[in-house]
Amino acid sequence: MTTTEEDLNLDAQASAKAGAVTAAGASAPAEAKPEPTTISEEQIRAGQRAHDLDREHVFHSWQAQGPFAPMTVLAAEGPYVWDGEGRKLLDMSSQLVNTNIGHQHPKVVAAIQDQAARLCTIAPQHVNDARSEAARLIAEITPGDLNHVFFTNGGADANEHAIRMARLHTGRSKVLSAYRSYHGGTQLAVNVTGDPRRFPNDYSAEGVVHFLPAYQYRSYFGATTEAEEAQRALRHLEDMIQLEGPGNIAALILETVPGTAGIYGPPAGYLEGVRELTSRYGIIYIADEVMAGFGRTGRWLAVDHWDVTPDLITFAKGVNSGYVPLGGVAISDEIFDTFRERAYPGGLTYSGHPLACAAAVATITAMREEGMVENADRLGREIIGPTLREFAQRHPSVGDVRGMGCFWAVELVKNRETREPLAAYGGSSPEMNQVIAALKSGGVLPFANFNRIHVVPPLNTPDADVRFGLEVLDRALDVADGFVS
Ligand SMILES: Cc1ncc(COP(=O)(O)O)c(C=O)c1O
Repeated sequence: MTTTEEDLNLDAQASAKAGAVTAAGASAPAEAKPEPTTISEEQIRAGQRAHDLDREHVFHSWQAQGPFAPMTVLAAEGPYVWDGEGRKLLDMSSQLVNTNIGHQHPKVVAAIQDQAARLCTIAPQHVNDARSEAARLIAEITPGDLNHVFFTNGGADANEHAIRMARLHTGRSKVLSAYRSYHGGTQLAVNVTGDPRRFPNDYSAEGVVHFLPAYQYRSYFGATTEAEEAQRALRHLEDMIQLEGPGNIAALILETVPGTAGIYGPPAGYLEGVRELTSRYGIIYIADEVMAGFGRTGRWLAVDHWDVTPDLITFAKGVNSGYVPLGGVAISDEIFDTFRERAYPGGLTYSGHPLACAAAVATITAMREEGMVENADRLGREIIGPTLREFAQRHPSVGDVRGMGCFWAVELVKNRETREPLAAYGGSSPEMNQVIAALKSGGVLPFANFNRIHVVPPLNTPDADVRFGLEVLDRALDVADGFVS
């Protein structure tokens, strides 16, 4: 399967799309040079067996299992993966936007091997050096007094625990979250999620209330300027708080830069306004930095771009590039104090797993030593941003480009005036499938969602490889242009 679909995958329709993409990618002539010296015939045969066994025994996330046509990955290194036929593809998706340091970083691989040789696992109630050091490094990265870390297995459970902490801390039950958001696939996390993946899972029993986000390209508030969008979206949010009863609302959860939902950064002043409103009404502000955090936007955390300190920050993915599953909640001193004498009623067998924490320590250290966050910022300002803006001038199918660091979205439309999307919200389309197939046949593994292509390479992708990916995208946009009316 394409990386893209796994995270986004919505329903059987998306499964069919995944199949179409893989089939098209596989059958189209490969423009990217295969690497016969890297992938042997034997590896390809082993990959075929893995594929057969997968189809017989593996149940995949989000998919209609029947039509699903997954892509085999035989090897991965840096920003590249090799598919089941030995074709080399630039991983412009960073898988599910988590391999921020690329694949198989030698320092992180060595740290995991070293930790495995010393101590593979230990129960969460014991002290462990990898866990302590990972928590110290994360507390150093988080703003303000978010000095303690509760480790989880990934992003969804991080959000579940953050909400539980907020409810216990405030004694309130409701949770506000934005439409056009993704917060995870477990029950409460998918309930706070604001995208179509929630629909089949929505039992509306969790006290969750959705509000409209600040999304300027398709403004829900009729705004024509950034300032108007921020002001009107904040007024709407305050109305929602008033109408739901401020005294009932425990938390507001918000992706600092919504990721899968479209990489739409907040208009200037919006997050500051959210912080002010939540403080004024005694609501815990949870910043979901699962996708946007750990260098993705060209800062260590996306909130660093704005002058806000949330009460809780959730993270996962980039914290250790996903080499071993890890997520967590960074906790303010005030919320920590609630649980100083009172037991926190929650836990996980693998909270602070040594292999995952050793990977986090090595990842953060490598990112610092190799200046990856600064590099992501530079790639965004000097290469990705200017190139995509130039595409927007030349390609009539490009409705909007936006982003920062190594976190960019290209929104494709059939008509720039009406902004009619190339695939409907929540769905795929034959047109989008052709664009995705063009990327794959050109040698790029893309991240796509509805009518968008996301440009989200690892933060340390060499300039020449980023340029290669953008050239392939340029040609794929010619295909999209053919659908403009
Ligand atoms: C913003 C955000 N929050 C939460 C999650 C859920 O993380 P996980 O899949 O590790 O549970 C994701 C996953 O894509 C995400 O992008």
